[in-house]
Order: sequence, then structure tokens, then C-alpha cells
Amino acid sequence: MKKQNSDGHYSGFWIDWYDDLLKDETKDIELYTNLITVDDGSVLELACGTGRLLIEFLKKGIACDGLDMSAPMLDICRKKLTAKNLQSNLYHANILSFDFPNPYKTIFISGGSFQLIPSFDEAIEGLKKIYDSLEDGGKFICDLWIPWDEIIANEQSTWKVGRVSEREDGSKLIVSYFKHFNHEQQMQTGEFKYELYHNGGLAKTHIDNIKLKWYGIDEFKLMLKNAGFVNVTSTKQQVMTSHGVSTVYIAEKH
Ligand SMILES: C[S@@+](CC[C@H](N)C(=O)[O-])C[C@H]1O[C@@H](n2cnc3c(N)ncnc32)[C@H](O)[C@@H]1O
Repeated sequence: MKKQNSDGHYSGFWIDWYDDLLKDETKDIELYTNLITVDDGSVLELACGTGRLLIEFLKKGIACDGLDMSAPMLDICRKKLTAKNLQSNLYHANILSFDFPNPYKTIFISGGSFQLIPSFDEAIEGLKKIYDSLEDGGKFICDLWIPWDEIIANEQSTWKVGRVSEREDGSKLIVSYFKHFNHEQQMQTGEFKYELYHNGGLAKTHIDNIKLKWYGIDEFKLMLKNAGFVNVTSTKQQVMTSHGVSTVYIAEKH
């Protein structure tokens, strides 16, 4: 099934603040740059966004291409590459609709971004696509999380303040969110509000939502095996501050 490219949630004025909002996230970068070494190249990062991780690979001399369906996120990534004089092939595409010219030795998708694929069937389709895009002997790495605390608390959802970032010129971005859960569908919908304050007043607001699916460990291992992967392993790791403990999956293609 071919999917239309669209910027999805990752568009609007707030994208210019994406790197500011995530500036204190380092565990994901440490994890992937330790797991993937020069012997694992060539590398493809799916959902590479602004290149927070991709650029770290390039700086280490590891060839790394990137794919993302958000044009504004990729524009920021491109500008950063030019400023640092680094080279990468960046693809503006949906994970589900792209065929790569050459297979990769390693493909990864970090920070739970695989869970942004909005349905179980499309996730299965995505894993098969990833499998087909790997060399024989290649590996796929991803981390997934489950919002256990909120599922267990089962509270009436209310607006909460999330990430906040302030710049030297006094402008400030405040992210608020409101989540609702569909337990049967294993789906969290987050309504997100981005408010930019400037010169003492509210200058801009952007409201949008993100759907995020979750998967049990055995379920996801089975999905990987169903896509053709072998030697599937999982470990518990802290990856993103807002995700609690995540599960890191490594799966190989024969
Ligand atoms: C939370 S951001 C992560 C970006 C980057 N990996 C990082 O850690 O900073 C999620 C990214 O996934 C991308 N994305 C979501 N669904 C996608 C899909 N089906 N195909 C390609 N990109 C997708 C979004 O456009 C966005 O840039």
C-alpha cells in the first residue's frame, strides 16, 4: 500500500524549537552511538528528524543516511549538515513507501518513533520494508516504550506542562499536553499545545495531536520474527527522559 507523504505532526513554527526542547536528551545518542560502530556501516536512520543522532554518526566517520516524512524537520537537518560540512543522503518519505537504491548494513529508529506508525497492519508492513532494505547479515535496532504509569493510574486526563525551553532573547516555548488512551487498540493520543511567549506576551500557539501505538515485548518480538528477522533480542534501557524504561530490540537478517 502506498502512503502519501505529509509532514504529519512535525510541522509548524514550533519545529524551529525542536532541538532546543530536546537539548538535554543525551541517553539516546549515547545508546545508539555505542551500539553502532564503524563496522556496522552503511547505516540508515529512519525518522531522523533534525539529525540529532544522524549527525553524531557522521562526526564519528560512520556513513549514515536519513529518512523522514517531515520536510521542515529535514530542512533543519540539511542546514546543520551544511554548517558542519557533513554529507548524508536525506530522503523525504514515509517509512512505508520508500524503496532504497542499495541495501543497508544497519537500520535504526530511535526514541520510540517506530510507534508513530499508526496501525498494527502498517507496523507489520513497515518491519517487512525494513527487512527488505537490509543487506543479508544486517541488523535492525529500535527502542519502544509503554506509558505504563499513565495506563495504571487510569486518571481523568488533564492538561500538563511538558518540555519548556527559553532562549537568550527572552522568548520561551511551553509545551502542554493532554493524553487519552485506547487500551484495546494499544494507542495513546496526545493532544499537544505549543505556546511561544515573546516580549512578555503570547505570540503564537500551535495545537496538534500525535498518536502512538504500544507493543508488548513478546508481541513485538513475534512481529519482528514474522517479518523474517532472526536472533531477536531485547534489553531494558533508559533512552528518553519522558519514556521511563524503554525496551531496545536488536534483530538480524540472515
Ligand atoms: C520524535 S521525532 C524524532 C526525530 C529524531 N529521531 C530525534 O530523535 O530527534 C519523530 C520523527 O518521526 C518522523 N516520522 C513519524 N512517522 C514517520 C513515518 N511513517 N515515516 C517517516 N518519518 C516519520 C516525524 O516526521 C519526526 O521527524
